[in-house]
Amino acid sequence: MVTVVVGTQWGDEGKGKVIDYLAEKVDIIARYQGGANAGHTVVVKDKKYIFHLIPSGILHPDKICVIGNGVVIDPISLFEEIEFLKKNGIEVEKKLFIAENAHITLPYHKILDQVEDKFRGKGKLGTTGRGIGTTYTDKYSRIGIRVIDFIDDDVFMEKLKIALEVKNYLFKEYYKEEILSPEKIFKDYEFYRREIKKFVVNTSIYLNEALDKGKKILAEGAQGTFLDIDFGTYPFVTASNPIAGGVCTGLGISPKKIEKIIGVAKAYTTRVGMGPFPTEIKDEIGEKLRQIGSEFGATTGRPRRCGWFDAVLVKYACIINGIDELILTKLDVLTGFEKIKIGVAYKYGNEILNNYIFDSKKFSNCEVIYEELDGWKENIENIKDYKDLPKNTKKYIEKIEELTGKKITKISTGSSREQIIER
Ligand code: IMP
Repeated sequence: MVTVVVGTQWGDEGKGKVIDYLAEKVDIIARYQGGANAGHTVVVKDKKYIFHLIPSGILHPDKICVIGNGVVIDPISLFEEIEFLKKNGIEVEKKLFIAENAHITLPYHKILDQVEDKFRGKGKLGTTGRGIGTTYTDKYSRIGIRVIDFIDDDVFMEKLKIALEVKNYLFKEYYKEEILSPEKIFKDYEFYRREIKKFVVNTSIYLNEALDKGKKILAEGAQGTFLDIDFGTYPFVTASNPIAGGVCTGLGISPKKIEKIIGVAKAYTTRVGMGPFPTEIKDEIGEKLRQIGSEFGATTGRPRRCGWFDAVLVKYACIINGIDELILTKLDVLTGFEKIKIGVAYKYGNEILNNYIFDSKKFSNCEVIYEELDGWKENIENIKDYKDLPKNTKKYIEKIEELTGKKITKISTGSSREQIIER
């Protein structure tokens, strides 16, 4: 059956480490959405690996990894990752399968993503500039190029010409950018088109056959619930569905096959890019969280905005994802804070809001109602048993459980594989 790992905040919850940890118990790890905007970090024996496209399960020698049809693939980024893994003694061939019907990100998607965001002025989203939104836009405009089209000479050229017809007009007449030649792109991508063939299959058939044989699949989400195109803080969202609902369309498997949904929540909240963030801390406490938690984007290096845990958001994430259990990450970062706050509701004028709201005027301007807890000073990084955690740490964990209504089954207390408490 399928287990899903989903982010319950604005991404960067520490899903990379969680997936690496859970990969031990499954046969296949499959990414279902997003693209090279993601940055999943895994630390093994002091070596840091950052994955943008390849599922973080690849570090396990006996596991198969799948990049599903819901993912948008930048071949340059993909092969940079493959090369990096090879250099570190990790073989990818026969361990990685890529969906024939996933869409390809090409140079014009990246350029357009960057210039579009610049032209948005005050409405700037602060995208990663990786061509994510623009690749999905082409997919929905039916001028996208799928992996299966990319590897066929004639089809690729034909589709490239169609896509560039509009893009070049925009570049020349509106954005004042250089126009791109289909022949040059065709030539520049020769290596990638040849090499990617080794990995391409119908992953929906592969995954369903694996399920029929009783294999276990871990579906790896990128980004998080509040970056979801439908349920996030629109328009400050990514262009895909990171929520558990995205698994079925992003992998081609039936909802009936999903057995368990695990939510990953960071012990505080972060967000990269623009958009509302009610529990954001703009003073030195926020800066302290950023420094201790190394809160700088794994993909763009941008400083992440930091704030207190928002229980209203995580509770909503639990509802729409159907989360069975939570994994709490980076709890060690909160060590040493005198007081720790948790957002429990919002206030807009005289109105108390107990639920996440889509009204961006209210959500951007609401006050947060907090519960304040006493912090702890003891180092928790090497604690293995829940009962050995300081009293106040346990109180904090149990308060989150009470507010979200979900059991926290694992607690991560550091970046390495070993730093995890099972309950
Ligand atoms: P895009 O996904 O590059 O289009 O960016 C849209 C928004 O999602 C921006 O605010 C990004 O900073 C944010 N975003 C995209 N991917 C991630 C991620 O993996 N972690 C955190 N934020 C992300």
